[in-house]
Amino acid sequence: MRTQVGIIGAGPAGLFLSHLLARAGIDCVVLEARSREHIEGRVRAGVLEQGTVEVMRALGLDARLTRECMIDNTLDIRFRDGLIHLDLPALTGGKHVTIYGQQEVVKDLVAARLAGGGPLLFEAEVLALDGIDGKAPTIHYRHAGAEHALPCEFIAGCDGFHGVCREAFPPGALTTFDRVFPFGWLGILSESPPITEMTYVNHAHGFALCSRRSPRVSRLYVQVAADEDPEQWPDQRFWDELRVRLGEGAGELVTGRILQKGVTPVRSFVAAPMRHGRLFLAGDAAHIVPPTGAKGLNLAVADVRVLARALGEFFRTGNPGRLDRYSDTCLTRVWKTVRYSTYMTNLLHRFEAHSPFERQLQQAELAYVAGSRIGGAMIAENYVGLPFDDD
Ligand code: FAD
Ligand code: DHB
Repeated sequence: MRTQVGIIGAGPAGLFLSHLLARAGIDCVVLEARSREHIEGRVRAGVLEQGTVEVMRALGLDARLTRECMIDNTLDIRFRDGLIHLDLPALTGGKHVTIYGQQEVVKDLVAARLAGGGPLLFEAEVLALDGIDGKAPTIHYRHAGAEHALPCEFIAGCDGFHGVCREAFPPGALTTFDRVFPFGWLGILSESPPITEMTYVNHAHGFALCSRRSPRVSRLYVQVAADEDPEQWPDQRFWDELRVRLGEGAGELVTGRILQKGVTPVRSFVAAPMRHGRLFLAGDAAHIVPPTGAKGLNLAVADVRVLARALGEFFRTGNPGRLDRYSDTCLTRVWKTVRYSTYMTNLLHRFEAHSPFERQLQQAELAYVAGSRIGGAMIAENYVGLPFDDD
């Protein structure tokens, strides 16, 4: 087997890229370390920007999404002295976000890829890359108990934060930027109808978030210690704490059977440049944003959109111009998104190290946004998604 583009990882970045390349008539192979059941069951993101939905639509992959998604036109932020209610279409010239679970996106993209003939290999773990400085790189992977080599023209490293591709850059070729926040999010999925509005909470006990996955399934988070053991949070403790943090907003809260519970770290990480030779990084392999603002998956889609276009131009015309600009084009958007996610994280969380002065500033910022159309519009236009940076 040989291919034009070897894609490592079948998360959103790798799967979207495989569809975009297939549509452009470019041959690719996707290698995924985990099983299909595992990647389809992984509970993660749920908020899709309009640009992400448009990519699914353009690929003809939006049939189930259109039937089952929920459109969100508002974002509420509760804080000590009040409520910020953001009307997204009014503040952004008609835009909204779409609620549809990441694992549903993954299921739709996997099914369509396999129906289109793949190749998409599960339980195919990439062990090493070589030749990324030349014109014929090779991916070495293990599948069904044997080791294989996949010669390619390009490699797309879509293997997430813990993958092998970033490590394949030669020493000194990457600069990394990292900020680890001193807390995490305890997230649950609950079999209970969600509260009406997507709600972020800044409370003296810490951040909370009420989101949803369907009319009958809520996705709820509370800020906890970075190293928190979910076992310390029996169901009743979670509901009691969420109720306290929601304050007046708790009136609407309905509890239910908890289906899943886990702790997510809150961190920012950027690796630059996102390309070395014939290896291109995309999605979480190159950058992580704090979850506040729901940007990670959307950023992965924005990267592979740029990459697919650049590879398309190269294979059509031989012009490497867009490939050469890939990293700069993506990083402009990445840093704007890091800025926004950091702003939202700082605005909404309890920082143990904050002085009384800093706590007052945080409340003043919330009160300012509550009373300012411009302050609200800044949050809203980032939340619905910045325009794609097309060059
Ligand atoms: P991944 O989804 O991590 O996929 C990488 C894939 O590569 C994996 O399947 C992995 O198994 C595979 N892989 C790794 N190593 C190898 C190897 N050696 N060989 C082969 N395969 C390999 N983002 C949003 O936009 N909106 C949200 O609402 C949101 N909420 C979130 C909530 C939580 C709790 C979490 C944890 C994240 C959230 N995110 C959100 C972030 C989002 O989930 C990620 O940014 C997204 O999954 C990135 O996609 P990816 O394809 O780059 O990486
Ligand atoms: C989710 C929603 C958000 O608005 C966010 O910032 C992070 C995660 C979610 O639905 O999982």
